[in-house]
Amino acid sequence: MNEQIVILDFGSQYTQVIARRIRECSVYSVILRYDTPVAEIKALKPSGIILSGGPCSVYDAEAPLPDRGVFKLGVPILGICFGTQLLAHFLGGKVERGQKREYGKGTLTVLDPTCDLFDGLPKSLQVWNSHGDKLTRAPRDFATVAATENSDYAVIEHRKKRFFGLQFHPEVVHTPRGREIISNFVHRVCGCGRDWTMRNYIDQAVEEIRKQVGNEHVILGLSGGVDSSVAAALIHKAVGDQLTCIFVNNGLLRSREAEVVQEVFGRNFKVRLQYENVAEAFLKRLKGVSEPERKRKIIGKTFIEIFEKATKRAGKAKFLAQGTLYPDVIESVPIAGNPAALIKSHHNVGGLPKNMKFQLVEPLKCLFKDEVRLLGLELGLPREIVYRQPFPGPGLAVRILGEVTRKRCDILRAADAIVVEEMKASDWYYKVWQSFAVFLPVKSVGVMGDERTYEDTIAIRIVESQDGMTADWVKLPYELLEKMSSRIVNEVNGVNRCVFDITSKPPGTIEWE
Ligand code: XMP
Repeated sequence: MNEQIVILDFGSQYTQVIARRIRECSVYSVILRYDTPVAEIKALKPSGIILSGGPCSVYDAEAPLPDRGVFKLGVPILGICFGTQLLAHFLGGKVERGQKREYGKGTLTVLDPTCDLFDGLPKSLQVWNSHGDKLTRAPRDFATVAATENSDYAVIEHRKKRFFGLQFHPEVVHTPRGREIISNFVHRVCGCGRDWTMRNYIDQAVEEIRKQVGNEHVILGLSGGVDSSVAAALIHKAVGDQLTCIFVNNGLLRSREAEVVQEVFGRNFKVRLQYENVAEAFLKRLKGVSEPERKRKIIGKTFIEIFEKATKRAGKAKFLAQGTLYPDVIESVPIAGNPAALIKSHHNVGGLPKNMKFQLVEPLKCLFKDEVRLLGLELGLPREIVYRQPFPGPGLAVRILGEVTRKRCDILRAADAIVVEEMKASDWYYKVWQSFAVFLPVKSVGVMGDERTYEDTIAIRIVESQDGMTADWVKLPYELLEKMSSRIVNEVNGVNRCVFDITSKPPGTIEWE
């Protein structure tokens, strides 16, 4: 078992960020519900425990509270914000309801630089606050380590028990030295080494996959996206030809997408690849359909039908592999006011019916996306795949407004390839969340040479985002936009006008349908 830090989640929107920061220190971390029984926590042999922040007050009737036994495990504890108030609540300090929320930047003055958390850090630090209640008396035997303008108890410590409380949030980027505070906690206080690396994870995962799969066969739906690609490479490393990857070309893919998958997995990795070229079937079913939700349903249903048939052709397999990630399996804490509880994936990526009689192999399910990318690189996947931008399951169909036809797909594919090419050439591609073209069936008049034209429109959509839930349009240099527009209009037949989408999300969405 890896050395690990357990994070108890009290409903903070930053809980996953805490977990990621710890892993960035090469230490494994897991997120558990706030009320996990202490026996379960103990069984994991944690090197340390973090009590997350949360939207509640310890005085709320509904306040989430941990199992008291957590404080008796003899393991170091770090409370963050609400977590610190819990320390006070359980161990004899005092928390007062704040008249107003303290929100935003503050300056922390370290009064006791011998505290391990501040080893190597200056005496004055910028920190990020976001709390209503605050500590007005430290719990018994706790010393005050640091203060801010608004709080005399911004950091408290029980040196013997190795309990710490921070009123601010070390995990967010607005606390610029916060990573070092977290690193000091996991390494200096909890004594963790640095053995959580993707190189080590490969060995561990390979062994687990072999143990689970035995001599049986595994099937994997390979989309060419990051998650399914990394899962495929990893499982292939573990069980070789016992893995069959099914790649469905639905005719709604981007330029060269099918070729890249065949090159990388078929030719380089020598994975058993079953290529299903079913563009016709999809286009036939989409004929005459222009309502976005109906398009999505048709595509989803057709995919399942085709995939089910393909699995039968692939031979008898007991296992189905999926690229499920850690954020998909963390049980969210249903606390009012916690946006993380609401932000659950609204897109069920490649959702397959429950009645498919397979056992699941999910080798990425304890990893965050950034770890999956690192793992992909370790496994030798090309950057083009590992840092691929997200692409919706229904593909180009949600980027063609109105009816999806072969001609429109071809036009969009050509325009999109130009957008991607220019983004890559100018080094913008890997800096943004998504950059793509959208086909608008809006004809307008233009003039090319001496001729009048009357053709369709391409919109360019380039957004910056952390998770796809909110997004800003990217202020690209005019010269770059000019180049894309001029190339699209000149090189793509059927397009005589290019527009740039300057809508953020909300109120817009990233995709147009
Ligand atoms: P929207 O358009 O809702 O998109 O702002 C948010 C993010 O989700 C992606 N997206 C999808 N992904 N299946 C997917 O796997 C889908 O049906 C789907 N629709 C949108 C979109 O590309 C963006 O990154």
